[in-house]
Amino acid sequence: MKTERFTEKEIEKAAELIRKGGLVAFPTETVYGLGANALDEAAVSKIYKAKGRPSDNPMIVHISHISELDDLVLEIPHQIKQIMNEFWPGPITFILKKKDIVPSITTGGLDTVAIRMPESKVARDLIKSAGVPIAAPSANSSGRPSPTNWQDVLEDMEGRIDGIIMGSDSDVGIESTVLDCTAGKFTILRPGFITAEMLQSKFNIEVENGQGIFEKNLISKPKSPGMKYKHYAPKADVKIIIGDRTEEVLKEEKDKAKQTGLKIAELNYNGDSRLAAHNFFTDLREADRAGVDIILVIGLETKELGYSVMNRMVKSAGYQIIKADEEKI
Ligand code: TXA
Ligand code: MG
Repeated sequence: MKTERFTEKEIEKAAELIRKGGLVAFPTETVYGLGANALDEAAVSKIYKAKGRPSDNPMIVHISHISELDDLVLEIPHQIKQIMNEFWPGPITFILKKKDIVPSITTGGLDTVAIRMPESKVARDLIKSAGVPIAAPSANSSGRPSPTNWQDVLEDMEGRIDGIIMGSDSDVGIESTVLDCTAGKFTILRPGFITAEMLQSKFNIEVENGQGIFEKNLISKPKSPGMKYKHYAPKADVKIIIGDRTEEVLKEEKDKAKQTGLKIAELNYNGDSRLAAHNFFTDLREADRAGVDIILVIGLETKELGYSVMNRMVKSAGYQIIKADEEKI
C-alpha cells in the first residue's frame, strides 16, 4: 500500500480517505493519531492490524465539536460537562457509557467509549471535513514509543496506512489524560497533561489516580485495557534513576557500560517536566536510531505533570528503576 502524504492544506483529500474507510495518520497536540471512521467496523479493524494492537484494547473516539457527543454517549453528567467546557478542546479523554451506534470493535467490547476533542485545529478540521467521529490510537506500532512528529509515524507505518497529514510536531508530547467517569467517582486511568491536581483545584472534586505508577500491572482485567500491555519500549534497555545520589549512580552506570563496550545515552531533563513530556518519546526513538544499548533516564518528581511523564518513563523501562538513595542500592 502506498502511503499518501498530505500537507495541512490538503485536509479535504485526507478526509475523503477516512470517509472511504481508509487509515490516515494526523497531528494532535498530544501525539500523532492513526485515524479511521469510528463508526465503520471494517475501517477500525484495519487500525488494529496496522498497529499490531490486541483487539481488546479500545480506541479513543475524536470529535470536532461538543455537539457531536450526544450521538455517541448515553448521558453526560452535569459535572463532567463542566470539566469538558473547561478543558476541551484539549488533552483530556472522558470514558462515558456508549450508545449502540458505536461498534463494539471500537471500544474493545466494552459498553463504554473514550471520547476526546483535540485542541489541534488540523485534527478538528479533519474530523469536521470527514463528517464522522474518528477513532485514533497513537500512530505507533503497538509497544513502541508514541510518535510526536510525522517522520516518526512513517518510521512505523509507511506502507501500512493510506495517508498521513504532515503537520507540526506535537506540543504536549505525551498522550491525553484518560478520565473514567462511569463509576460514580473520578479516576484517572492514564495520567497526562491535565493532572489530578488541576482537576481538583479547578472543580473542588476528588480525583484518584487509578494505579500507582511504580506498580507493575499484573491484573488481567484492568479498567483501562491498554494498561496491561508492554509500552513505549525502544530497542535499547531503559533504566530510570531516582534519588539523592543520582549523579553518583549515573557515573557508576556509565563506567560500567564503558567497561563492557555498551553504547549509552543519558536523558536528563533537569526536573523540567514540560520539556520531558515534549521530548521523551522522540528521544527514545532517536537513541534507537543511534544504535544505543542502554538509555539512562534521570527521573522526575512524581507530582503534577512530572507524575504523568514518570508513568511513561517507568513503563518504557519495563519498571527497571535504580533507587539512588543514601542506603546501599
Ligand atoms: O492523546 C491521545 O489520547 C492520543 C491521540 C491520538 O489523541 N490517542 C491515544 O490513543 O493515546 P491510544 O489508543 O494509544 O490510548 C487509548 C487509551 C488506552 O490506554 C485504552 O486502553 C484507553 O485509552 N481506553 C480507550 N477506551 C477505553 C474505555 N472505554 N475504557 C477504559 N479505557 C479505555
Ligand atoms: Mg498508544
